[in-house]
Amino acid sequence: MRHFLACLTAVLMFSAAPALFAANSGDADIDKRIDELMQKMTLEEKIGQLNQYSSTFDVTGPAPTDGRNQERFQKIRKGLVGSMLNVTGVEATRRAQQLAVENSRLGIPMIFAFDVIHGYQTMFPIPLGEAASWDLEAVELSARVAAVEAAAAGLHWTFAPMVDISRDARWGRVMEGAGEDPYLGSLMAVARVRGFQGANLSADDTIAACAKHFAAYGFAEGGRDYNTVDISEHTLRNVVFPPFQAALDAGVATVMNAFNEIGGTPATASAYLQREVLKGEWGFKGVVVSDWNSIGELVPHGVAADLSQAAQMAMNAGSDVDMEADAYVEHLPKLVKSGAVSEKHIDDAVRRVLALKFHLGLFDDPYRYSDEKREKERIYNQKHLDAARDVARKSIVLLKNQDNMLPLDKTKGVIAVIGALAADKDTPLGSWRGKAVANSAVSLLEGIKAAVGDGVEVRHAPGPPLGKGERSFLKELELNFTDPTGMDEAVAAARGADKVIIAVGEEAFQSGEGRSQVDIGLKGLQMQLLQAVKAVNPNVIVVLMNGRPLVLNWIELNFPAIVETWHLGSQAGHAIADVLFGDYNPSGKLPVSFPRHVGQMPLYYSQKKTGRPGPDPAGMVFWSHYTDAPNSPLYPFGYGLSYTTFGYSKLKLSTKKLDFDEDLTVEVTLKNKGDRAGTEIVQLYVRDLVGSVTRPVKELKGFKKVTLDAGASQKVTFKLNAEALAFYTARGKWEAEPGDFQVFVGPNSRDLLDSRFTLKGK
Ligand code: NOJ
Repeated sequence: MRHFLACLTAVLMFSAAPALFAANSGDADIDKRIDELMQKMTLEEKIGQLNQYSSTFDVTGPAPTDGRNQERFQKIRKGLVGSMLNVTGVEATRRAQQLAVENSRLGIPMIFAFDVIHGYQTMFPIPLGEAASWDLEAVELSARVAAVEAAAAGLHWTFAPMVDISRDARWGRVMEGAGEDPYLGSLMAVARVRGFQGANLSADDTIAACAKHFAAYGFAEGGRDYNTVDISEHTLRNVVFPPFQAALDAGVATVMNAFNEIGGTPATASAYLQREVLKGEWGFKGVVVSDWNSIGELVPHGVAADLSQAAQMAMNAGSDVDMEADAYVEHLPKLVKSGAVSEKHIDDAVRRVLALKFHLGLFDDPYRYSDEKREKERIYNQKHLDAARDVARKSIVLLKNQDNMLPLDKTKGVIAVIGALAADKDTPLGSWRGKAVANSAVSLLEGIKAAVGDGVEVRHAPGPPLGKGERSFLKELELNFTDPTGMDEAVAAARGADKVIIAVGEEAFQSGEGRSQVDIGLKGLQMQLLQAVKAVNPNVIVVLMNGRPLVLNWIELNFPAIVETWHLGSQAGHAIADVLFGDYNPSGKLPVSFPRHVGQMPLYYSQKKTGRPGPDPAGMVFWSHYTDAPNSPLYPFGYGLSYTTFGYSKLKLSTKKLDFDEDLTVEVTLKNKGDRAGTEIVQLYVRDLVGSVTRPVKELKGFKKVTLDAGASQKVTFKLNAEALAFYTARGKWEAEPGDFQVFVGPNSRDLLDSRFTLKGK
C-alpha cells in the first residue's frame, strides 16, 4: 500500500512528516496501558466503548426524545458510551465528559466528534471549491484552522475528509469531496488529514481525522444519495481506493464506512471492504466507525432480519463503532455469549478505540480540550478570517473573460449588483457548515462595496427570491418558480449601468447530503432574470455560487464573463471582490468536469476509449456517442483562466526508453504572455496505450503551481517512473506494465502538448 504516498512524495515535500497513527501497534507503553485497562473491563463495558451517541440535537437523522436522552445519560454513567457526536463547545463537552469520567466505574473518558467539514466556525470554501485551488498548502491550512477551532471547542474528532471520488453532479455530496480524479483526490486527502491531525494528536490544537465513506458512496446509481452501487473491483482499486490509501499513508486515525451497498452487500456489513482490504491488506490500525445508523439500516437494506442480526453482521465485518443505531450496546453482549460474535473481534475493536483515546491524551487529562479562555481566543479570530479569505480567492475559477472584461475598474463608473445571491450572507457558508453563525458570511455586495472607491456608484436589486420559507440543513428547500417580485427592479438597476454583476447558482442547502437532483441547471427564476438583464445590458459578469457542477451552455454563449465561486465561506464577498477588481489574479482550475447536459452523467475526463471511439470515418452512426450532444464537457477537468495568458512550448522528455527503475524527466517551457503577473497550474497527464485491462484516455499524474511575472518564462519539470504508472492490472496486482505511453502537459485536461515514451520491461 505504501506505493501511493511514495509516488506523491515529490508533490508533498512542502509539508512536515506525517503523524503516523500507530493505534495499538508500535507503541509499547500504550499497548501495556490498554492491556491493563481491558483486564478490568466487563464485556458490557468493552461493548460500551463501541457505542456512539449523538447529542440531543441532531443534524442527519431523527433526534432522540427527552425520555430516551435520560436513558442515554444513564448509559454514559454506566460506562456504556464510548464517544459522542454533536456535543460542541467547552461547557457542553465538559459536562458530558464529567458524566462519564466522574460516574462510570472505570472513568474512561469519551471522545467528542463533529462534522467539521470546511471549518468549525470560520468557514472556508466547500471542499469541492478548495480542491479547485489545486493548492495543497492552502487546503492543509484550511483543515489546520478548522482543527484549531474545533479542538478549542472541546472536540477531538472530525468526520472528515470525505474522500469519495464523485463523477455525477446529480449527487448532492459532490460539494463535500475533491471531485472526480483519484490523483488530485488523494493529494487533497493527505493535505486535509495533515491539517486536521498535525504532527501530534494529543496537542491541544489537533483533532483526529476520518476518511469517509468506505467505499464507493460517490458511485450511487443515478446520482441518488444512499442509492445502490454496483462497481467492479477494477474501478474500486483504480479509482475509489487510492484516496483512502493516501489518507492511511498520511496517518489518518479513523475511517467511516458507507450507507450504500456494493454488489448486494451493504458496505457496513462488508467483511471484504473492512476486514480483508482495510484492516488486512492495508494494515489499518485505527478505528472504523459506522455511518449514522448504517448498522440499523442493514434491516431496511434487507440483509438483516432485525437489529441483533445487523449488529452481528457489522461487527463480524469489521465495523468497530456503532454510530446511533443502539445495535452494539443492546445486542452484542448476548451475541458474544451465544458465540455468534467472537470476543476477539470485540477486543480488537475496543483496543482501537482505547488507543485513539490514549493518542488524544484523554487518559492523561480528559479535560485537556476544555479551556474557556482558549475557546474564546482561538475561534473565529481575525487570523483565521484572513486565512479563509486567502484560501477562498485561491479557489475561484475564471471560466470566461471575453475581451478582458475583467478585472473591473474600482475607481469610477456605475456597477449594478443583482441576483438573489448577491446580498445573501448565508449561502456562501455552504452546506455542512459546522457551527457557522447563520448569515455571517461577507456577501458579494458587501465585498464589492468595501472594495470600490467613492467614484463608483453601486446599485443593488436582488431580483426574485430563489428559495421560499425556512432554510435548513434538515429540510427540503422550497424553490421559487412562480413569484417574479423584484424582477423589474433588477432589470431597472441593470439598465444603463456600466457593468452588471449578477450572482446566480444554488443556495447553500441545494447541495450536500440528501440533495440529489435530476436537473443541474439554474433553478427558480434565475434564467428568466438572466434573459431580462441581457436584453437591457450586454456588459454582464456572471458570478456563480454553487456546490456542484452546473449546466451552463446558455450562459457561456450569452455572457462575456463567468466566474465560478462555489460556496466560498465566511469571507466570500471579499475574496470575490479581490478577483473582480484585479487585486488577486485568479488561478483556480476545475476539479470536476462541467457538463453540457445532465444526460452526460457520469462525466469525467479519464474515461475509457471503448471499442468504438469514433467518429466513424464513413459517417455512420455506430460509435460511442450521443446524437444530440457532444461527448465532451462544456468546461473540462483542470480548466480555468487567468487575467494573463500562458504559453506552453518545448515539451521534452529526458529519454524515450525508460528503464523500470529509472526516472523520466518531463520538461515544458511556460511563458507568461500577458502584461501582468499570474499563476498557472501546469498539469501532467499520461496515457498507457496498451494494457492488460483497458486504460483511461488520460490520467493526471502531476501538477505544479507556477507564478510568473509578465513576459517571464520558466522551465517546469515533472518526474515520472514505473511507480507512478502503476495500476491494478489483470493479474490483480498494483504494478506498471511495460509498453508505450503518451505523456501530455498543459493548462487543463483538453488543451495539451504531447509526446511519447516506452517503459522497458524489468
Ligand atoms: C451521515 C453522513 O453520511 C456522514 O458523513 C456524517 O459524518 C454523519 N451523518 C454524522 O453526522
